[in-house]
Amino acid sequence: MGHRPGRVLIAQEEIAERVRELGQALSRDYEGKDPLLVGALKGAVVFMADLMRAAEIPLATDFIAVGSYGGTTRSSGVVKITADLSVSIEDRHVVIVEDIIDTGRTISYLKRNLQTRRPASLRVMALLDKIERREVEVELEYVGFTIPNQFVVGYGLDYRGLYRNLPRIAALEEDPGA
Ligand code: PRP
Repeated sequence: MGHRPGRVLIAQEEIAERVRELGQALSRDYEGKDPLLVGALKGAVVFMADLMRAAEIPLATDFIAVGSYGGTTRSSGVVKITADLSVSIEDRHVVIVEDIIDTGRTISYLKRNLQTRRPASLRVMALLDKIERREVEVELEYVGFTIPNQFVVGYGLDYRGLYRNLPRIAALEEDPGA
C-alpha cells in the first residue's frame, strides 16, 4: 500500500505568519549580534530559507548534516555528523534551525557537539515540536508549532525523500489505490 499527503495540518499562510513572527523574534533577540543560523540538513532547508528572510538583521548561515549509526531510525540514539559546518562557531551567537524535534536525540546531540566548539551562545529554533514523542529532555528556545504524534510531510519534511517541496504541512495517509 502506498502513502500520500492527506489532511492539511498547517496551511501555507499559517506557516508564513508564524515564520514572520519567529523572524521578528530573532531580529529582536539578536540585534547587533550578527548571529549564525545553522540549518540541519535536509529537512530544515525550506524553513531556513524563509526564516532568514524574515529576520531583518545581519546574519550568517551554515549547514550541518546528521545521520544515525546503524539502521535507518534514530531510535538507536546514536547520531553522527555526515557533513560538518564550513566555518568556526567560536565566539559566535549560534542558532540551530531544525524542521522538527521528535525524540529529541538529534538536537540533543547537535547541541552537545556544537557547545564543545565554544560559541558565545547556543539556542534552538524548531518549526515543529512533536512533544509526545520526546525521549530526551532538551530545551527549545523557539518553537513554531507543537504538533500531535502523527507522521507529517511538506515544508521540508519528507517521506522516503519525497514531499519536501509541498508548501504546507500535511499528514501522511495510506493510499489504498496505490
Ligand atoms: C529529522 C529532523 C530532525 C530529526 C528529529 O531528520 O530533521 O533532524 O529527524 O528526530 P529526533 O528528534 O527523533 O532525533 P531526518 O532524519 O528525517 O533527516 P532529514 O532532515 O534529512 O529529512
